[in-house]
Amino acid sequence: MTGRRLLLANADVRISYVVAKGASPLYRNAIGDELVYVESGAAVVESVFGVVPVRQGDQVLMPRATTHRWLPTGDAPLRAYVIEASSHITPPKRYLSKFGQLLENSPYCERDLHGPLEIPLVEDTEVEVLVKHRAGNEVIGTRMVYATHPFDVVGWDGCLYPYTFNIADFEPITGRVHQPPPAHQAFEATNFVICNFVPRKVDYHPLSIPVPYYHSNVDSDEIMFYCGGNYEARKGSGIAHGSVSVHPGGYAHGPQPGAYERSIGVEYFDELAVMVDTFRPLQLGEGALACEDPAYAWTWSGRGPGLA
Ligand SMILES: [Fe+2]
Repeated sequence: MTGRRLLLANADVRISYVVAKGASPLYRNAIGDELVYVESGAAVVESVFGVVPVRQGDQVLMPRATTHRWLPTGDAPLRAYVIEASSHITPPKRYLSKFGQLLENSPYCERDLHGPLEIPLVEDTEVEVLVKHRAGNEVIGTRMVYATHPFDVVGWDGCLYPYTFNIADFEPITGRVHQPPPAHQAFEATNFVICNFVPRKVDYHPLSIPVPYYHSNVDSDEIMFYCGGNYEARKGSGIAHGSVSVHPGGYAHGPQPGAYERSIGVEYFDELAVMVDTFRPLQLGEGALACEDPAYAWTWSGRGPGLA
């Protein structure tokens, strides 16, 4: 049993939500890297590079054109927020030394990245692999049948392979005054970035107001997936665990009415969210259109559909 709904997309990135109980087919995405955030459940991902165990909170980086399959484990279904790029997804360049190592001021380091284990040697014939690829501007799929199993390999060399990073290992960067979103950045790709908002100590200047200031995204659409804890700045807006908010570029937004006052003196935010900021506009997919909350955009005004 697998359900997949497309939430948002443009030429650079496609964001979907997936619920899966059974094994996926063998598959590869020839368009770009995928970063799969596991909201809940567990799985084993088998690939030509080896087996990658996956648990709740993992961000699974699957490189472009890697033949693989997902095998959910345990009784609960696997719930995942899938970010598909049209490019590679990498650590931001500013986190890396000129030799390519993660610097000490990066919010994560090599110890937090977990690569594949043993190769799942499989011998078989006439094996079907689903390939997602482009034809002009269209995203299409092709079923390919291989004479031998793609996991029937001796070994591999190189620096391109799947790995996991658990969001609990993201060390938040905090300050006396509000830290802007780049402090939360985890990964970058062509024309979008991925940021992790994790439980953290908040601004500790004696006059600080811990929730963010009002802002409009001059250069990006801002997509937040609220995947744990309480999101203090959005209290009273209808945002809850599992919500996805879309703030298109140019629209001013910020904490809900009353959030500034409530946040004064607060020392810790227990929030967990994965943000995608895109530098080109997104289109809504069928999954987003099916669950839109028309009252959300009006929650700053206190007026509008669904409000007195
Ligand atoms: Fe924002």
